[in-house]
Amino acid sequence: LKYCDRSNSMGVNLANDDQLRALAEQINASVRDDWFAEPLVPGARPSGERLPVTNPADRREVVGQWLPADAATVEQAVVNAVAAQPKWDATPAASRAAILEHAANLLESRMAEFIAMCTKDAGKTIADGVGEVREAVDFLRYYACQARRMFLVEPLPGPTGETNTLHLHGRGAFVCISPWNFPLAIYIGQVAAALATGNSVIAKPAEQTNLVGYAATKLLHEAGVPVDVLQFVPGDGQTVGATLTKDPRIAGVAFTGSNETANAINRALASRDGAIGVLIAETGGQNALIADSSALPEQLVKDAMSSAFTSAGQRCSAARVLFVQDDIGDKVITMLAGAMAELKVGDPGLLSTDVGPVIDEDALKNLQAHAARMDREARPIATVAMDDDTAHGSFFAPRAYELQSLDQLDKEVFGPVLHVIRWKVGELDKVIDAVNSTGYGLTLGVHSRIDATVEKIAARIKVGNCYVNRNQVGAVVGVQPFGGQGLSGTGPKAGGPHYLPRFTTEKTITINT
Ligand code: NAD
Ligand code: ALA
Repeated sequence: LKYCDRSNSMGVNLANDDQLRALAEQINASVRDDWFAEPLVPGARPSGERLPVTNPADRREVVGQWLPADAATVEQAVVNAVAAQPKWDATPAASRAAILEHAANLLESRMAEFIAMCTKDAGKTIADGVGEVREAVDFLRYYACQARRMFLVEPLPGPTGETNTLHLHGRGAFVCISPWNFPLAIYIGQVAAALATGNSVIAKPAEQTNLVGYAATKLLHEAGVPVDVLQFVPGDGQTVGATLTKDPRIAGVAFTGSNETANAINRALASRDGAIGVLIAETGGQNALIADSSALPEQLVKDAMSSAFTSAGQRCSAARVLFVQDDIGDKVITMLAGAMAELKVGDPGLLSTDVGPVIDEDALKNLQAHAARMDREARPIATVAMDDDTAHGSFFAPRAYELQSLDQLDKEVFGPVLHVIRWKVGELDKVIDAVNSTGYGLTLGVHSRIDATVEKIAARIKVGNCYVNRNQVGAVVGVQPFGGQGLSGTGPKAGGPHYLPRFTTEKTITINT
């Protein structure tokens, strides 16, 4: 029941130049300047001003428009979702699963179109875009496979003359609230889980990435999800998001984003009278990478670079702090600076680009303020040079700083900044305590060839995903179930065997024959 033996999406072989060039051509051919996103709510007549969508890599480039949901549209969406859920819940799980699998096939066949949109709407590099599509396809197939098995009804043991059966149902109308940093994978992952388990869904994407959410919703409709069972309700988090989460007709919320917003949603759910709403929240991290002197420096630096700077550091899983044992500290810091000098920051649509823009001007300003403080309070190790072609986008040069202690960081720094702290032999417990004391618990990287050290860290550290002698980003659905603990989220883990049950309610039927 627990594990599904379906294959993950093959994606694209990024090491194969021919495949990659062909894909890049298809992506370029898919770029448009008239993409559009509007509420998809049957019976509503959304009105208001259409807002422009601009490319994070060049704000002069308008790539489309979007229309936020007004209050009447949000209300209509809730009415529709409540009315539509019983029929969807009564649809056999195998039929729901078949629709999700059809959506996975459609998405795979339209990979270039979705990557183009991820690039222009969210500033994703081509490699990131491939990862987005693969992960979304994997979520669709994994949850479909799991739902088929979970919803099989088997007789329970009981006395003669009585049959007992346990039945699963969707909880009702679910709200799925997703972040901009995985506008396709997390959007589809939340929605697919809620749909597979018999819930109707109101999906609210991050306000920065409506185009991708809209296109993903249309694709799911095309695959066969009824339009009143999955509705798209774009809008501001503080208004549309807050209105939805405090509505007592909503049975549950699947949320991914910041810890502060998760707490606001928790309070909104708790403030309602009536049935208690369930919250599944995946939030941020203050992720560490601990390396001792047995680590292989080349591998350590390669993995630290990928963990800190992939996706411009805008991954909840990204490494923020490298704790390096001081015996290899100088060597690792020199190699890190050398590797950073090779990073190419620029247009995410080019195959040569390693690091694209950050999502918007607010994110850029936050990172610039952090860098200004670090320039005063820490030792700068390296800052990557940027080309002139970054002048019109929200680009932030990746950097590294050496700190004296973790106390110098008070919150998650969501961008391409790696902080380095040295530790001495005998201080491993102190390092583990410092990491645990942040209260976050998402990912940890470990680089060590000493089994006892690895075992000790893995046993004592409070995180959801611990990666040893590799990078700490890019969890694969069904292989590395993903999600944290403490300030990093409620669990259960996305892409793991315990995720779907949280979207369901159970009914036992006992019949005296
Ligand atoms: P955010 O919390 O600002 O926004 C996330 C979503 O919540 C958006 O759709 C937003 O509109 C909505 N929202 C905002 N206020 C709301 C409210 N009061 N009520 C209801 N909805 C509201 O986060 P973000 O900046 O979009 O994303 C970055 C954060 O997400 C980082 O902290 C990152 O670590 C985290 N994240 C976590 C995971 C994970 O799996 N653990 C994955 C990706 C991102
Ligand atoms: N699941 C994403 C990763 O592992 C956030 O990087």
